[in-house]
Amino acid sequence: MPEGIYHFPRGFLWGSATAAHQVEGNNTNNNWSRWEKTPGKIKNNEKSGAACDWWDGNWKEDLTRAKESGQNSHRLSIEWSRIQPTQETWDDKALYKYVEIVRWMVNHEMTPMVTLHHFTDPLWLVDQGGWENPNTPILFARFCRKAVDALKDYVNLWITINEPNVYVMEGWIEGKFPPGKSSLGLAATVLEHLVRGHAAAYKIIHELQPNAQVGVAVNYRSLKPAHDWNPLDKMPAAFQNQIFNNAFHSCLKTGLLNMVLKKVKIPEAANTQDFIGLNYYSRDIVHFDITKPGNLFGRLEYPKDADLSTTGFIANIPEGLWDGLKWAHHFELPIIITENGVEDKDDSLRPRYLIEHLHQVWKAANYNWRIKGYFHWSLVDNFEWERGWSQRFGLWGLDVKTQERIRRKSVDLYEEICKENGISNQMVEKYAPEILNKLFPSY
Ligand code: FCB
Repeated sequence: MPEGIYHFPRGFLWGSATAAHQVEGNNTNNNWSRWEKTPGKIKNNEKSGAACDWWDGNWKEDLTRAKESGQNSHRLSIEWSRIQPTQETWDDKALYKYVEIVRWMVNHEMTPMVTLHHFTDPLWLVDQGGWENPNTPILFARFCRKAVDALKDYVNLWITINEPNVYVMEGWIEGKFPPGKSSLGLAATVLEHLVRGHAAAYKIIHELQPNAQVGVAVNYRSLKPAHDWNPLDKMPAAFQNQIFNNAFHSCLKTGLLNMVLKKVKIPEAANTQDFIGLNYYSRDIVHFDITKPGNLFGRLEYPKDADLSTTGFIANIPEGLWDGLKWAHHFELPIIITENGVEDKDDSLRPRYLIEHLHQVWKAANYNWRIKGYFHWSLVDNFEWERGWSQRFGLWGLDVKTQERIRRKSVDLYEEICKENGISNQMVEKYAPEILNKLFPSY
């Protein structure tokens, strides 16, 4: 018998998250397929290739794995370039494949959450300027109408846009994502158009499905000034926090997009979210740096003694998730953790990362904050954008050449958590004994 359990609210959604381009394979008609073909853009020039081969049918086996290991929900995205291969044509067969997937989920008592835009854009859209073009929000809304109308009998949880903050930061400031630009001016324009696209989609979804729950997934970084007493560290931390973490979601509440250096009124965006989608991976320490005007004079670093993932991409700092939850809570809307996870090929960090982050979620739920679910990134190793196959985020591992799945011990841990709807001291002792004292101090 367990001696101590952190229980989660009844009806909690337990799942994992994936994105179309990262798992489907053979996507040839979007900005990322073109980016992959451009030498030097992806680590080791790797390609998504067959990815996890979901398009050819592997979705069913992977979702069966999820179902059998206790998950009652799954977040997936649909690929605009498949459904609308040219501006004038719709591929109903492709759309029907997504209907088949979500219907399968519902028939297997898994709640689907569908993301309508997860970093990828059709080439025909990109070739007319993509999200730099003021007409794109209308085209996106048109796509959403078509897709939502087809899926609405099975889906009522929607993410319109995944991580608009990362999409803009990487595509128009850092240049690591397509279109690989570096321009604060264009970044502001694109962010504004994404807000407009979301607002238009929100209205259409509710028109088609009055009981829909619609949100946006923000990538929340907990940003801490290197020295609390130093205004020079505090200033860039506060500005970056406003632009990166807060601007988009605040605008969906107030209709004002406040990007510090530029403010834009978008009245039609006010009150266009039903829940807060929170993606959290890590916390950064912000140092004042005169050489970084493009980053508002802030240089981001992980703490010196951080508990780092395989490639150093993520530091295990669960307290940062608490900051994110606190921020999300101030919107007075339900909260869903739409992504959280760590790249960890040998699964030595993942068990404690998972437990410690869920412990923060539990704490928030016990403050009576309306936390509705948790989606782990990811179900199976998949193509990690410009980092290619170098990072392994899956509960299940993937042998990319053979498509073989490797059951990591984190699958067993997550299965126990989902089935118990909680975390017990026995689970911690079994999977991450090094943190037993931290989680259950009396043992
Ligand atoms: C997030 C993305 C997701 C995945 C994880 C690791 O920023 O939304 O697609 O790449 O990072």
